[in-house]
Amino acid sequence: MSTNDAKNRLIPAADIRDAHVPGMSAYNELVAQADANHDAYWSRLAREFLSWRTPFTKGLDESQAPFFKWFEDGTLNVSYNCLDRHVENGLGDKTAIIFEADDGQVTRINYRELLARTCRMANALKARGVKKGDRVVLYMSMSIEGVVVMQACARIGATHSVVFGGFSAQSLRDRIQDAGAVMVVTADEQVRGGKPLPLKAVVDDAIAMGGCESVANVLVYRRSGGAIHWHAARDRWLHEEMQDQPETCEPEWVGAEHPLFVLYTSGSTGKPKGVQHSSGGYLLHAALTTQWTFDLKPNDVFWCTADIGWVTGHTYITYGPLALGATEVVFEGVPTFPDAGRFWKMIQDHKVSIFYTAPTAIRSLIKAAESNESVHPRRYDLSSLRILGSVGEPINPAAWEWYHEHIGGGRCPIVDTFWQTETGGHMITPLPGATPLVPGSCTLPFPGIAAAIVDEMGGDVPNGQGGILVVKKPWPSMIRTIWGDPERFKSSYFPPELKGYYLAGDGAIRDAQTGYFTITGRIDDVLNVSGHRMGTMEIESALVSCTALVAEAAVVGRPDETTGEAICAFVVLKGPRPRGDEAKKIATELRNWVAKEIGPIAKPKDIRFGDNLPKTRSGKIMRRLLRAVAKGEAITQDISTLENPAVLEQLAQSN
Ligand code: WT7
Repeated sequence: MSTNDAKNRLIPAADIRDAHVPGMSAYNELVAQADANHDAYWSRLAREFLSWRTPFTKGLDESQAPFFKWFEDGTLNVSYNCLDRHVENGLGDKTAIIFEADDGQVTRINYRELLARTCRMANALKARGVKKGDRVVLYMSMSIEGVVVMQACARIGATHSVVFGGFSAQSLRDRIQDAGAVMVVTADEQVRGGKPLPLKAVVDDAIAMGGCESVANVLVYRRSGGAIHWHAARDRWLHEEMQDQPETCEPEWVGAEHPLFVLYTSGSTGKPKGVQHSSGGYLLHAALTTQWTFDLKPNDVFWCTADIGWVTGHTYITYGPLALGATEVVFEGVPTFPDAGRFWKMIQDHKVSIFYTAPTAIRSLIKAAESNESVHPRRYDLSSLRILGSVGEPINPAAWEWYHEHIGGGRCPIVDTFWQTETGGHMITPLPGATPLVPGSCTLPFPGIAAAIVDEMGGDVPNGQGGILVVKKPWPSMIRTIWGDPERFKSSYFPPELKGYYLAGDGAIRDAQTGYFTITGRIDDVLNVSGHRMGTMEIESALVSCTALVAEAAVVGRPDETTGEAICAFVVLKGPRPRGDEAKKIATELRNWVAKEIGPIAKPKDIRFGDNLPKTRSGKIMRRLLRAVAKGEAITQDISTLENPAVLEQLAQSN
């Protein structure tokens, strides 16, 4: 897009009455405040947005950079901030969560009840010996109980680690072990798309693999009533554990830096890393961004469609909306069940006013609507909507336009929110009452976030020229460390050549005229498939761990119309290169193998077999070449150093 185009396509900011950030001058004023005194800016917001037990006396502590601390001598409790204070302020009867189950059954819970249930859960955890600083792993279905368990951990100062219910027993085991969890909370099954899927059985398998000896108890939420195995020594029904517990529980007042949670995410190398977040700084940004980015007001009905197994579910389901005393929808099911109109029907039924979802969902619902009129959004009353959000991957302009026109009726601004597991909350995003929009651009940094684009040595790159996305100053909700691996934290996010800036791992470009950011994609070997982050190395290790079949494997991403990126695996087998039906059969076997090792989300869409992989003379796999082959592009690169050019032809055939 030329710069003139960008300017011409600016869509004026929405005219919102009493917007929290009401226009570009208000935005610029906030940015100026943060520029003038970063510490004072964030400290003011931390006092405004959070209730402190002991007020902090200092904002940012850089003395042990890059292990930054914020508000360190202040104490607070996250669940107090999300629940008690609203009840104390007379909001006890306000609906906190509208839960819709897979089968459409709706359960509402108000703030008073949510607090009582959280307290009973917290007491139940304590009764089983869980105490401040202990880690609790959740492997749960989307449910009110999932939110309650997270809040209950926060209440007693236990650090939760939620593992997405789509991960395999192996992945779950690795996370339980790395976190040294004392307890796992799960459900018998989860129900999605009308089908029960095992959860408890996967926990059993994970523990049976060994290495989870720290786990003393497994709490089981009865969701489906499906048959499960029972290990009397460690398994407990969650409802029985909660039954006789009192409805009050004094919060554990923790320091602002106390680890609220560890969430595992993929990097370019090695095993997934446990991203550790704080209590005070994290909650501040969760609350602040929920209010400003979505312009959230007391009467809004907020719906973030993410799963609590991802950071989006943490920040924009469990913490941000509740910290603000909002009403939110929590959904158990999938967008396509009973049909692809489910999201639109739920927006209509619950009068959702703020809707936050991922481009991959939008793209698949566009397809569905275009082929089946009965699930087209025009068949639903979506007039309650006022703000739309997008998260997890770039939103292509065509999907943006459709979302804007068909879901937002042309009147709702779309906030394209760029952020990461590590950032805790939004980093670059429009603010709906302030920022003119450009489809496909996440526009400008959130006030107080020093996002910039630099070259490999950390030097500023002029607008209009691409580079590496960094954040020049620490911010309150940033990752504190990688659980158990501070060295990896330093080398992954603060490489010495980048002058102490936080390295996001994405490339980006700023428009020459508007200064708007567009994310151009990861600069490392991390893939983004349907908004899910995966390391190519992880998938490669899963493939080569199939030692009976696989000699060598290389994994790259290629663009995909629906999922954004698709996983493409190049495999050299121990036996001869398979062809035809034999190749298809082995490809299926390998896909299932990867699903078992990591989870179904990591299944390669495309598997190709060769006698060899293209390598340089020094033996390095030529990934750039493989990316071109995966895309079906003509090879324009220099392949004169290639040992065996004929393999390229073999690898061009998909199975
Ligand atoms: C990576 C982070 C953000 C929470 C969910 C994913 C990509 C995320 C956008 C966006 C373009 C985006 C980046 C980032 N990404 N949002 N609005 N536009 N790209 O969190 O799993 O930690 O993944 O997702 O590549 O680095 P995550």
